[in-house]
Amino acid sequence: MSFQIRPFQSKDFVELMKWLPCEEASFYWPGSYLESSLRPESTWVLAEEGFILSMVTFQDLLSDGEVLILATHPSARGKGFARKLLQALTDAKQYKRLWLEVHEKNEGALRFYQSLGFLQVGQRPTYYRDGGTALLLELKR
Ligand SMILES: CC(C)(COP(=O)(O)OP(=O)(O)OC[C@H]1O[C@@H](n2cnc3c(N)ncnc32)[C@H](O)[C@@H]1OP(=O)(O)O)[C@@H](O)C(=O)NCCC(=O)NCCS
Repeated sequence: MSFQIRPFQSKDFVELMKWLPCEEASFYWPGSYLESSLRPESTWVLAEEGFILSMVTFQDLLSDGEVLILATHPSARGKGFARKLLQALTDAKQYKRLWLEVHEKNEGALRFYQSLGFLQVGQRPTYYRDGGTALLLELKR
């Protein structure tokens, strides 16, 4: 399987919008937030034959980084794409620490991040629209 990891390009917008506002994504990241976040300097995609299978949006914070959005196409999950994308990002950026927030009940994402070595370092109660707590996770280099 040959895939490419590269910065977001404006031509990707239509393709991404076909699946990114899926059920979970529209809960965590409202449409206007998704659209305004999709920029080449802060979004990378994993694409295969023109199809975007996984995407990550991030911001640089001096020597650290924060993941803002991470999603894999619903039919491409469990194949290692998000892992490869995050690995490529951390290899390229050489962040000392990478942070993110995840809903306390997003068990799939929590297991995903734990498998990559993220540890919980804090929490933000009533952070989400449903009153759920955000767990603050950190990956140290
Ligand atoms: C979380 C998400 C990005 C993972 O993407 P993915 O491409 O399926 O993840 P990968 O295939 O790279 O998984 C890597 C590892 O994480 C673990 N993992 C991933 N999804 C998991 C799940 N639902 N349940 C348990 N473990 C899981 C597996 O252990 C896997 O390890 P393996 O390679 O040994 O099998 C994807 O499920 C998604 O898009 N979810 C909806 C959006 C979301 O919740 N994003 C995160 C918000 S903070």
